[in-house]
Amino acid sequence: MRKSIVVIGLQWGDEGKGKIVDLLSSQVAAVIRFQGGHNAGHTLVVDGAKTILHLIPSGILREGVVNVIGNGVVVSPDALSSEIEMLESKGIPARSRLKVSTECPLVLSCHVALDLVREHKAGGTKIGTTGRGIGPAYEDKVARRTVRIGDVFDTRSCIEKIERLYDYHNFVLTKYHGVAPIEVHTTQEELTQFAELVRPLACDTVELLQGLSGQILFEGAQGSLLDVDFGTYPFVTSSNTVAGAAITGSGANLFEIDEVIGVVKAYTTRVGAGPFPSELNDRDGETLAQRGQEFGSTTGRARRCGWLDVKALRRTIQINGVTKIYLMKFDVLDTFKEIKICVDYEGDSNIQSAFSSNPSGTLSVKPVYESLPGWESDTTSVRSYAELPKEAQTYVERLKELLGVEIAGISVGASRDAMVNSHQLLNP
Ligand code: GDP
Ligand code: IMO
Ligand code: MG
Repeated sequence: MRKSIVVIGLQWGDEGKGKIVDLLSSQVAAVIRFQGGHNAGHTLVVDGAKTILHLIPSGILREGVVNVIGNGVVVSPDALSSEIEMLESKGIPARSRLKVSTECPLVLSCHVALDLVREHKAGGTKIGTTGRGIGPAYEDKVARRTVRIGDVFDTRSCIEKIERLYDYHNFVLTKYHGVAPIEVHTTQEELTQFAELVRPLACDTVELLQGLSGQILFEGAQGSLLDVDFGTYPFVTSSNTVAGAAITGSGANLFEIDEVIGVVKAYTTRVGAGPFPSELNDRDGETLAQRGQEFGSTTGRARRCGWLDVKALRRTIQINGVTKIYLMKFDVLDTFKEIKICVDYEGDSNIQSAFSSNPSGTLSVKPVYESLPGWESDTTSVRSYAELPKEAQTYVERLKELLGVEIAGISVGASRDAMVNSHQLLNP
């Protein structure tokens, strides 16, 4: 049986999953996205050129790698078309490297309208979604009224499905939310065009994966603390973001997974509302934001910043069965005199109660920190573990001890090659 890899974020997203998937994709036959939608923003930097992907898997830059959008992903026809166009305008033959499951639910204009009006009306209790219609699209999937990619090839029945869907949602938009309805004809025309684009890409992923002989890499989006079950509910996304979703969102089977790679930022960030125990609202937080360029890859919103939270990480490592960690954005810590790690929450050892919040997302627990000396030197050109400053090595060793998982690589810059040699880390 082939042995495959799942790559997932262990925090609140934007850990640097795109960089790791791009890096590891040189070793695999296929990269498959299994959940989320274009709420994701995965950044790849290769030879100074930056590419931000929202829906298309992060193996797309590699010739000979099949990139698959699995059934667990909700697909916006508009976002997929623009992303293909963006890549092809840069000379990347996206369509010849891409496949899309016929079972993907579509994200349509009515979903975006619902997402936006709900957030607007929620005021102080809003989730701070990306406004891409992701939540309403997943709701339609489980309500069994969604339009799927496979539906767009039969024009007549597709028109009927969209009419029924819009009938329902326009009632809610106009009568409950008091806003304008969404034009059903515009969506129908868009889908007729989209059908032409997607026809050669559409496939049954079960068959596709079965036919591949090499390793598969399953690319997660968001992070485990945004998981609809295990995250900081209700301040979460609407899909399961944990490793288990790699199976249900792709058509692979349980026994194909051999490795679960957790991507962890060396500190913590969060976009949108909700509890964040180790959040900093001081100079250190500003330094992290500024040095880490912490602005969302999808919405451009400022990311909230704080120290690394080992208490939360232990839980996400457990849920996902993480076998290896990649530690990202290590260079962002280069200027700190003192670096803190949240190891517990004061007077409350139960993480779920720490994460349960009042309606506006604020929380009542205080983090307990362990403090380590910073290295106060530039690590961006370091490529081997032995070259890292002593304090930096101490920090990594302490993390390994606290997390109980092997750290397979340390990222010290956005570009593909800015990695501290993992072999030397394993055998320092
Ligand atoms: P993803 O959603 O997990 O793929 O992460 P994003 O792409 O949203 O955010 C990560 C950001 O950090 C991107 O702008 C990356 O180019 C950048 N990045 C990744 N790794 C490093 C690193 O080691 N150091 C620095 N300074 N930036 C990094
Ligand atoms: P990547 O894959 C960070 C957050 C939103 C919001 C919550 C719900 O780039 O790590 P949604 O639009 O999904 O209904 O919003 O989830 N969120 C992300 N935060 N990175 C992401 O993706 C995210 N995708 C969604 O900010 O708090
Ligand atoms: Mg991102």
